Amino acid sequence: MQTIVTTSHKPDPRSVAIGGWAAEILNSEFVDRSRMSLEDLKIKHNAENIIVVANGDMKLYSPRGEYFFHPSMSVPRIKAIKQGKSDHMIAAMDLEPGDSVLDCTLGLGSDAIVASFAAGTEGMVTGIEAVPEIALIVKHGMANYITESQALKSAMARIRVECALYEQYLTGIPDQAFDIVYFDPMFRHPRLKSSSMEPLRGIVKYDPLSRDAVREALRVAQKRVVMKENTFSQEFARLGFSTVIGGRYSPVAFGIIEKQETGL
Ligand SMILES: C[S@@+](CC[C@H](N)C(=O)[O-])C[C@H]1O[C@@H](n2cnc3c(N)ncnc32)[C@H](O)[C@@H]1O
Repeated sequence: MQTIVTTSHKPDPRSVAIGGWAAEILNSEFVDRSRMSLEDLKIKHNAENIIVVANGDMKLYSPRGEYFFHPSMSVPRIKAIKQGKSDHMIAAMDLEPGDSVLDCTLGLGSDAIVASFAAGTEGMVTGIEAVPEIALIVKHGMANYITESQALKSAMARIRVECALYEQYLTGIPDQAFDIVYFDPMFRHPRLKSSSMEPLRGIVKYDPLSRDAVREALRVAQKRVVMKENTFSQEFARLGFSTVIGGRYSPVAFGIIEKQETGL
């Protein structure tokens, strides 16, 4: 899969600088847009995906659609938490202010933003994403997203984004480095309605979570390891998540392994 970076037809200097920087990070080509269409640029450079930088923002054009950073469902979820309602993920994590969270599957960043909000100013969230294009757009988006909500802004600012495979990242960190380790792998049986991931389906990493990775996560976690999956997924049993919680009518559920249960 080849990704190139370009700008709008008449780019401002900041977008040109950001485009050059993005191409360098992705180790890809930064190509002159001139008057060319994106389709023509794809053909000319034999590229499957194009990141276009315009007005300082990045948008990825893939064969399946367009993706740009947006806090999406994290906004209503944060609003609900502020109103005193419970959030299934936060409940599954037993997340308290001041906790540290390692989100091993950052994706579009919504869960990490909600976790960061709940962990508060004393807490800390690190998000790991294997796909460089996604890690870059989400990191840039979180740093530059314009919002009047100070809570959202500071929740995003506290998230550290790392582009890495969680399998490798986990092995490099000490025992009990984080309170909670979280996984939201691509579902074994994707929900058809999950449209926000649609443009990224050709580039996201799909590998199932392994028992070895769960073991490593338990070594790194101080409190618990949590995994999100389809409510009736066999993955919970296969990976040893004996407790599963979720809303009665929700298509997704959260598996929990308490560190204490494991004797590690
Ligand atoms: C379902 S999405 C996560 C969505 C995320 N929780 C959110 O709120 O937007 C799963 C993400 O994990 C990434 N991923 C899958 N396997 C990975 C691995 N081994 N290391 C790091 N990231 C991985 C995928 O590329 C994808 O972006």
